[in-house]
Amino acid sequence: MPKLGVNIDHIATIREARKTYEPDPVHAAALAELGGADGITVHLREDTRHIKPRDVKILRETVKTKLNLEMSVADIVVQTALKIQPDMATLVPEKREEVTTEGGLNVKDGYDVFHTVIDLLMKAGIDISLFVDPDIETLKLAKKLGVKYVELHTGSYANAKGEEQLRELKNLADAGAWANANGLVLNMGHGLNYTNIIPVLAIPRIHEFNIGHAIISRAVLVGLERAVRDMADVIERHRVD
Ligand code: PXP
Repeated sequence: MPKLGVNIDHIATIREARKTYEPDPVHAAALAELGGADGITVHLREDTRHIKPRDVKILRETVKTKLNLEMSVADIVVQTALKIQPDMATLVPEKREEVTTEGGLNVKDGYDVFHTVIDLLMKAGIDISLFVDPDIETLKLAKKLGVKYVELHTGSYANAKGEEQLRELKNLADAGAWANANGLVLNMGHGLNYTNIIPVLAIPRIHEFNIGHAIISRAVLVGLERAVRDMADVIERHRVD
């Protein structure tokens, strides 16, 4: 059965909206694990706009399942990863202006840099995953780089509609089959939600999904009623008139 890695970046985004201490991604990780998450994923961006090195450090101590660190090849982030030693590092492209990761890695152009960074991380005992588009030429390069995992970018599938979405689904299935046939462990993620994941689940031998936005969005809504009730109770209990 495919495993579920839960991306908790959005918890840190809410915290940073007030530059305060809550909600704490460390607490969110514990709750996600209680809910059955098989792993916790965080993206330590170079600009640290949501997840901070402090979060990753504490999560390294507290996560009981598996800690997956999404990261670019920027030196400062690589140094942090080497110090903190997540179970897995997923290399992702990163642009300052982007709202979220916008596509898979350009493995061809960055091959030498990836080679160097992967070597450093692997020597430190960290498993490596490459976040790539469902494209077989790119998977061949991933294989050549010696990584254990690939995470197929499902964003184009998630954003497409109708016939185009079926084509994107086929790309994922074909790329997934190639990855499995060539000894790469197959992960998928980005833009998946409670409905668009269903056709993807027909693809055999997916090892793990990484899902963030849809889960945190649902958490906000299913938790809101209880949160309002709790505040109303405090007002009720402590009012003077
Ligand atoms: N996988 C990767 C590599 C990502 O960069 C992200 C977003 O941080 C996700 C999965 C999760 O995407 P979403 O938040 O759309 O579920």
